[in-house]
Amino acid sequence: VRTRVAIIGAGPAGLLLSHLLAADGIESIVIDARTREQIETTIRAGILEQGTVELLVDSGASDRVTAAGAKHEGIELRFEGEGHRIDFSDLVGRAVWLYPQHEVLTDLVAARLAGGQDLRLGVTAQRVEDAASARPRVIAADASGRPLVIEADFVVGADGSRSVARAAVTGSSTGGYFREYPFAWFGILCEAPPSADELIYSSSPDGFALISQRSDTVQRMYFQCDPDDDPGRYSEEQLWEELQKRVPGTTLRQGRIFQRDILRFRSFVAHRLLRGRVALIGDAAHTVPPTGAKGMNLAVADVLVLTRALRAPPAGRRRTPHRRLSRDGAAPHLKAQHFSWWMTSMLHTAPGASDFDHRRRVGELRSVVESRAGSTYLAEAYTGWPFASAG
Ligand code: DHB
Repeated sequence: VRTRVAIIGAGPAGLLLSHLLAADGIESIVIDARTREQIETTIRAGILEQGTVELLVDSGASDRVTAAGAKHEGIELRFEGEGHRIDFSDLVGRAVWLYPQHEVLTDLVAARLAGGQDLRLGVTAQRVEDAASARPRVIAADASGRPLVIEADFVVGADGSRSVARAAVTGSSTGGYFREYPFAWFGILCEAPPSADELIYSSSPDGFALISQRSDTVQRMYFQCDPDDDPGRYSEEQLWEELQKRVPGTTLRQGRIFQRDILRFRSFVAHRLLRGRVALIGDAAHTVPPTGAKGMNLAVADVLVLTRALRAPPAGRRRTPHRRLSRDGAAPHLKAQHFSWWMTSMLHTAPGASDFDHRRRVGELRSVVESRAGSTYLAEAYTGWPFASAG
């Protein structure tokens, strides 16, 4: 088959891109190996920057986000037994929304199908060929193994951290700069009322914990663990004990734990984002550790840059979307890379950290909460830098 834009991956990046392109009259095909149910039930983070929410609403991708989501105007940083509120409204006049990523996906899939767009699930991309030619191709296979070749003007790898498209851009499936971390998060979902009004990021002598939320009846919480920990090894009682000891000062409201998972931490930046007529966006282009919940927001920012690039009328052969993308695309996400690394490093206890390291981290946290300048940086980065204007 032929299309204007072939998009690999029906995550937030791929689906939103297809949605925005359709609004500009640019036809696309989105493929993903997963089923609709798998896409809509994968549990990921829950924080949307203000700019992400505005884009979802303004583009008609989701009208539920502001009704079903919850506006959060601050977070709490807790350390040495004391809580410190970072007041986003006061500091930067912006906010974030708690609206789980799988809800965003549900909205985007519905919008795609309602718009009659070509969304092919159960189709696995195998590789991208001829990236540097005028007609790059995606080689794929459907659920029964029948080959599918999609020829396009432009191919987008929105296929996550284990991207198949990456090899066509960087020369190898792993090509990029990365950093691993000696800890991970143990995440749970439980049936309980919220334990606090806002999210609590707590650094304790036993390690980090994040008390997040999903709704009035379902909560999401995480605690720092070993990356090789076995999620099955804890009883429910032990999980509550691990969580509770990391948030001294708050009595967690407990309830049945119905989902548990371990999230490994990685920072990654592909060393190229574009080759010829193939681009990488979202996690395929860059992965951040979860602290600060930047992942999906970064994917959305990429989509905006790419949509503008693909929309721009090519002014001569040398000014194809390529140049615009490589100029705009590289810089902004590095600030979010830094922020995610910084929040992670500031809040977690690294195995083998010395007493000096520990005291220095306390000094760092104090520099944030006791200084308007320090708090403002956190608030600005957490709520997100406004997406570059000029639509
Ligand atoms: C959530 C995840 C995060 O990484 C974060 O910083 C805040 C919230 C969440 O899943 O709710």
